[in-house]
Amino acid sequence: MKLKKFFQHAVAMGIDYDPRGKKRIEKMFKKQKEREKKLEEKEKEYFDVERTWNPFPDCRIINGADDAEFTHLMVGIDIETPEILLADRLRSKGTKIDGMLIHHPEGRALADLDKVMPLQIDLLAGVGVTVNQAEGLLRPRMSKIWRAIHADNLFRTERAAELLDLPAVCCHTITDNLVWAFMEKHICKHEYDDLGEILNAILDIPEYKKFAKKGNPPIIVSGSRGSRPGKICATEFTGGTNGPEEFFEAKARAGVGTVLSMHVTEKSLEEAKKHHVNIIQCSHMASDALGVNLMLDGMKKIDPKMTFIEVSGFVREERKKW
Ligand SMILES: [Fe+2]
Ligand SMILES: [Fe+2]
Repeated sequence: MKLKKFFQHAVAMGIDYDPRGKKRIEKMFKKQKEREKKLEEKEKEYFDVERTWNPFPDCRIINGADDAEFTHLMVGIDIETPEILLADRLRSKGTKIDGMLIHHPEGRALADLDKVMPLQIDLLAGVGVTVNQAEGLLRPRMSKIWRAIHADNLFRTERAAELLDLPAVCCHTITDNLVWAFMEKHICKHEYDDLGEILNAILDIPEYKKFAKKGNPPIIVSGSRGSRPGKICATEFTGGTNGPEEFFEAKARAGVGTVLSMHVTEKSLEEAKKHHVNIIQCSHMASDALGVNLMLDGMKKIDPKMTFIEVSGFVREERKKW
């Protein structure tokens, strides 16, 4: 597989499972293309052409030519300079590694992380929160994230990959969309007497089982094993990063009883408890690995020659279908 092809397939898979829906995404592209046409000469330099076809600002090729070979990959949840050095070390010992697949964004994909967050509005609309309310609550949080990331040292990983000539791609919200869709289908749509039963169902998923055996199981952080679940949703799996804590009150009012999440902030947890919303924290790494696995299963179907070396929180599990 070539690098650009890999990324184009990845974007297509992310769109297939996006809570915004294909129509809305097409509209976004159209608006961006129109905007591009109207730009003044000075603005053109800063226009991100990527936005005319890729609706995931936190997913991007951060190093490598479009036609670079990208078949044998090192895959990690967090890949920074240490993992790039590890790849180079393994290569010098004879291991075949063409490039790096990274989950958590780096470089420009990290610089633009806040820009994928409006996806959360559609995610919440799916559980009955009005779009105006979700948007109103989300905007201040987005600007906080933007300011926080803005001060980061954003391009270290990208530079290391450049120096060691390793193509690298970040797929963040793309694979988080997949794990969200997976959890909605395999966990949320079923009926359970109590939260304990949900924990057991999550543990039947191989990635969660693997991490649980290593001491990182799904845990109930709000509610208890015997609590009744009510309406279950997996709204904390995709959309860039955690939304504002006020989302928990909005979800409670919309009729949500239990939220599955990868990680929760202390403020959100407090808010959830106040509104009697149960939360199951499902293991961050297991959840991210699950999303990446679903994407890699799709890639394997396109190019069966692909191979993956697991590092930095990623564990490979293959599925024929889901
Ligand atoms: Fe993730
Ligand atoms: Fe993550």
